Amino acid sequence: MSNFNNAYIPPAALTGSMRDFRVPGGADLLERTEGFFKWQDLRRQNGLWPFSRATEDGPNTICHAQDDSGNKMRGVNFASQDYLSLSSHSGIKETAKQTIERCGVHSAGSPALVGNTSSSVALERKIAEFLKMEEVVLYPTGWAAGFGVIKGLVRSADHVVMDMLSHSCLQEGANAATNNIHLFRHLDNDYCRNILTKIRSKDKENGILVVTEGLFSMDSDTPDLLALQTLCHEFNATLVVDVAHDLGNLGRDGRGHIGVQDMLGKIDIIMGSFSKTFASNGGFVACKTRAVKEYLRFYSAPATFSNALSPVQAATILKAFDIVESAEGRGLRLQLMTNITALRKQLTAAGLEYYGDPSAIVCVKMGSEGLARLVSKRLPELGLIANLVEFPAVPKGQARIRMQVMANHSENNISDAVAVLRTAKAEAEIELEMTKQPTLGPAQRVA
Ligand SMILES: Cc1ncc(COP(=O)(O)O)c(C=O)c1O
Repeated sequence: MSNFNNAYIPPAALTGSMRDFRVPGGADLLERTEGFFKWQDLRRQNGLWPFSRATEDGPNTICHAQDDSGNKMRGVNFASQDYLSLSSHSGIKETAKQTIERCGVHSAGSPALVGNTSSSVALERKIAEFLKMEEVVLYPTGWAAGFGVIKGLVRSADHVVMDMLSHSCLQEGANAATNNIHLFRHLDNDYCRNILTKIRSKDKENGILVVTEGLFSMDSDTPDLLALQTLCHEFNATLVVDVAHDLGNLGRDGRGHIGVQDMLGKIDIIMGSFSKTFASNGGFVACKTRAVKEYLRFYSAPATFSNALSPVQAATILKAFDIVESAEGRGLRLQLMTNITALRKQLTAAGLEYYGDPSAIVCVKMGSEGLARLVSKRLPELGLIANLVEFPAVPKGQARIRMQVMANHSENNISDAVAVLRTAKAEAEIELEMTKQPTLGPAQRVA
């Protein structure tokens, strides 16, 4: 049994959300940040602000980290997005070292000028072949690719039709591009059809970009891509699929759900990130014509006016693709799936529920934000580092602990994590009940 200490927690630290401060009032742009900070700091003072942590020795399976007040923690790490464990792979590190020796560390220019390197040009070709697409544009981050592809292609009279759970980069790109944004119910292609029908009954002149993801990062679920792509063509719309979380690590050959669903070369536009599987920051957009590529390069601001990936990033990602395509990569994917299956099985045996289909993202259901925050507070104390996800990132009352599985996790890492989660949840349930007892003051609450 752990040394559970049920100290008094002010209710305000267990309620409210970041949404409350998104549009702060007041004429002073700087002063009006105070409200958020006050709420955040109340949570921080009570150990309930589990964000902005720093690792000390990289995203390894056992991780030393500190919170944003400098408090140290050590635990099994299920909070990092390094699904195939490539960030510490010896071949990747060697490639990085050799590239630094040869090229230094900086691209020193935009890809529209002289920021490309022989590695970045080779990487574009590699991704195009990997996805059976014709052309690829690289971006400094996955976020920039998602934002940039929408803002680059969509103009104010056009429409964006998007799955309501699409990632922030896609939502922000749409908001920046047009007011004509139509959200459809998550994964619901019929709902999407209704929207497309309505738009085309009034507007045949302007473009429609339909936006979805290959694997949703909070729910671990996937659209029917063939049906969605067919729908798009029926309504003269263009489909973009964000494959940040499944590319490289899912499916026998690592082509993610696009490969699993036999859609290679058949999606209009694919965008992705290197930051989950390919051991580096960076993102890409893959398309079918040189015209689209050249247009994005000069009309998609993050690809035009931001420095290119550094030579070491490009070379590292290229090497990661080589590994992903190799027998070793297949082995790593198998190991990852073995770990995913073991985690899900053990969670179920421990009475813990999770969302979605088997993938490297296993989100464990908590429910109320208050409970999830208390669980999340206990996790590092008990030896587990995992991320809290709460409203507005997910719907109210559906807070969760997101476990991100890596190929290098051991059987013990998994069983330890499940044991911690079970204890933390049981203790947090008791603690939450105690915070609801109005007659007990702080003194009486302390056991
Ligand atoms: C679905 C999705 N798209 C895009 C991104 C952005 O990727 P990056 O971290 O490379 O900026 C993320 C990252 O969290 C993501 O989850």
